[in-house]
Formats: sequence, structure tokens, C-alpha cells
Amino acid sequence: MVLERGAVDVRGRGLRGVGLGLLIACFALLGPGPEAVQPVGGGAQVEIREGDPPLVALTFDDGPRSTTTGRLLEGLALREVPATFFLVGERIAGNENLIREMASQGHQIGVHTFDHVRVTELSRREFDLQVSKTRALLTDILGLGDYWLRPPYGIVDNSVEQWADGPLILWSVDPEDWKDKHTDRIVAAVTGQVKDGDIILMHDIYDTSVDAALRIVDELLGRGYCFVTVEQLMALRDVQPEKGALYTALVPGDI
Ligand code: NI
Repeated sequence: MVLERGAVDVRGRGLRGVGLGLLIACFALLGPGPEAVQPVGGGAQVEIREGDPPLVALTFDDGPRSTTTGRLLEGLALREVPATFFLVGERIAGNENLIREMASQGHQIGVHTFDHVRVTELSRREFDLQVSKTRALLTDILGLGDYWLRPPYGIVDNSVEQWADGPLILWSVDPEDWKDKHTDRIVAAVTGQVKDGDIILMHDIYDTSVDAALRIVDELLGRGYCFVTVEQLMALRDVQPEKGALYTALVPGDI
């Protein structure tokens, strides 16, 4: 039986074509079933089988950084795995080609403010500038999109929830990869606690984090996990993103 999880509008969000190919490649890990997984015409719909594989979203903050992000993109492409990148606006200039590559590979792209600031310390006007300026830069490079916000440090308040013109994406697994930059420890921290529906927080500006992320992907693919973008995770769990709502994970049974 094929479960249809509804239409997913992916236009302008960096998920065209390749992204859905990646998703299908992931589900192919299940092996042949009674019905083939349907390729998604025009990239508008995602279908998966009953007896779904566990899903996980790998997310990266604080980039892009040409060296480390470039290496990460190569590694993810080799493994046919999509991720979600929350970019800092001030790092966008000079990395336009990298960001185009990110989008063309099917990764979701969001914003992490322009200057990596605590959004709860901002006036409404400052908040709008931090977010809208970053979104405008992405629109110049990639075209119109939603570009969901991940607030730096995961700090939000009622005002931010009201001001956010889209969902606020947090996380459920944080290996604190920035702290000791120890690849083995980061891998163990994630693979030791990850569960179906988790959103993993990492940072693509450290070589150790790139190494760890690719090892985490290999380990979790081996366990049958399917990697999806945050947007795909929500769609596959039948969750409609709401403006100003916080999302930390989409664990079956908790939704
Ligand atoms: Ni950050």
C-alpha cells in the first residue's frame, strides 16, 4: 500500500528535481515492495510506503563557509542525502555559487539572521532587518522562497513568534559540535540518541563537524534511516507549517 502524504509545494525552496530524486533513492533502501515508489512528477508530491523507514533531518547553522561547506556538499551528494542549511546573511556575499550548488542539490535553505544575533534583544524594526535582509540576498541568488528562520541559540519569545513570517525551526538533537570539535564524540553523541523524527543541529563551518556529519549519515543509512529536509519531514508527518510556531522534532506519537 502506498500512503499519499499530500502535495508538497517545493517551488523556489531549493528542492527542485534533484531533491525528490534523493528522497526516492532513500526509500529505495527498503527494497522492492508490492508497489513501486512513484517518482514524483514535477516535484510536487511525496509518496512513501506503509511501514515507513525512520526519518531524520540533518541541519547545519552558521555557514556557508566555502571550504567546509563545499566539502560537506560533496559528501552529501555522494551519499544522495538532502539536508537543511540555515545561513548567516553576512556570509552570503562571495559564496553565491556555493549557495546555488546547495539549492541545485536539493537541500533546503533557511536563514539564521544576518549577523547571528539574539533575536529577543531586537526591536521589531531590527528583527525585520536581520531576517528580511538575509531573505532578500537569498531571493537575489535563488529566487523567491520561504527561507524559514532558525533563531540563533534557539532563543525566542512571544514577540519573535509574532514577528516571524514563517515557522521557527529548532532542533531535538544537539551534539554541541562547536565545543570540543572532537569527531568521534560528536558522532557518538548523535548516533547514541537519535530517533525517528529528530532534527539534528550541527555547524558546517568546522572540518570536524563535516567529518562527523558524513560518518553520522553513513551510520544512520546503515540503520535504515531516511534523510529528509525539515520541510520534507513536516510534509511526510502531515504537519502544516504555521507562522510563529516552534518545531523541534516530528516524532511519531508526539505530533
Ligand atoms: Ni548559530
